[in-house]
Amino acid sequence: MILVTGGAGFIGANFVLDWLASPNAEGVVNLDKLTYAGNLTNLQSLQKDSRHIFVHGDIGDKALVSKLLAEHRPRAIVNFAAESHVDRSIHGPAEFIQTNIVGTFNLLECAREYWGGLQGTAKEQFRFHHVSTDEVYGSLSASDPAFSETNPYEPNSPYSASKAASDHLVRAWFHTYGFPVVTTNCSNNYGPYHFPEKLIPLVILNALNGKPLPVYGDGQQIRDWLYVGDHCSAIREVLAKGELGETYNIGGWNEKANLDVVNTICKILDELKPRADGKTYAEQITFVKDRPGHDRRYAIDASKVEKALGWRPAETFDTGIRKTVQWYLDNPLWVDGVVTGSYREWLDKQYQS
Ligand code: NAD
Ligand code: TYD
Repeated sequence: MILVTGGAGFIGANFVLDWLASPNAEGVVNLDKLTYAGNLTNLQSLQKDSRHIFVHGDIGDKALVSKLLAEHRPRAIVNFAAESHVDRSIHGPAEFIQTNIVGTFNLLECAREYWGGLQGTAKEQFRFHHVSTDEVYGSLSASDPAFSETNPYEPNSPYSASKAASDHLVRAWFHTYGFPVVTTNCSNNYGPYHFPEKLIPLVILNALNGKPLPVYGDGQQIRDWLYVGDHCSAIREVLAKGELGETYNIGGWNEKANLDVVNTICKILDELKPRADGKTYAEQITFVKDRPGHDRRYAIDASKVEKALGWRPAETFDTGIRKTVQWYLDNPLWVDGVVTGSYREWLDKQYQS
């Protein structure tokens, strides 16, 4: 068994599906609070798969986490659970502090207690894998080299500050208690099941619905884009072979300005699903007020994980973005559930929350 937290969200769900796609995979206990970002329809294909045990709960709940560890005795924990959207963190940082910092602290403490009670190879082989972000390194200028693992932490948003704090806790638990951790810091993910508050799915769905495509500021902010399937394969490698106490940057070698990303999506949609009036979707691009404290550029130097573990991304941005646009076109039911909010009705019925 492994324990995955936040496995009903975008990356977590892709990871669980990917993990269980292998017939010999160990089972997954999936602990998720089902916030607005958690969507059990992402995991619908696992409904009859006894290797997947879903638990509705909070990583900050000590009694629940300790009980799950004692019951299922996982050989690893992969921690995806977090509040993850920068714009939401600007409007309301409290949840980010609670889940990303206090929640991670609780998970670490429960896991350390559980690990302390293990013996022999079970103890030696146990791993706590913390999933973090490149945003902890702050913002680069156009001429700066890409972030490497030795860059100082300089977080600029409540989101990145809360992730930086959690990374520091994870690091300290290794150095102080010898608790067996690995951390990965990845760039912007994209792909199936991405909640449409983030740039790529928002632009795809707004384009199809005839709505404006909001580009913050001048649209020249740069992000590195990592296809979510590549991120999942990197986590599997690091979990299997990563050195304890190390951090690994995971990136796609795909630095793009936001406006270029939006234009690329418009071009693919012009080809796959042309507008009824024959005009290009790019006509819907609308420049809007910039995000406060908007980081200008992120770039990841992923050479450490490539050299140490032999991992490389399989997708280029061109192949990954095409697959992604196609996925949104092919999955209208998922899209409809998210856009209308009906994915939460099922949740309310099931959990009376
Ligand atoms: P997401 O917002 O789509 O999903 C987060 C999941 O965590 C949801 O299912 C939510 O219900 C769950 N959750 C939230 N609070 C919880 C709590 N207290 N207890 C249990 N579950 C809780 O996020 P994502 O995009 O899938 O990101 C996953 C992880 O990867 C996060 O740690 C994020 O910081 C990191 N990350 C994401 C990106 C990206 O581009 N999406 C990039 C770098 C790092
Ligand atoms: P986002 O997907 O929110 O990820 P992050 O802030 O974690 O990088 O945003 C990606 C980039 O796109 C970021 O520079 C902000 C920008 N952006 C827009 O220009 N318009 C939008 O509507 C959104 C959501 C983001």
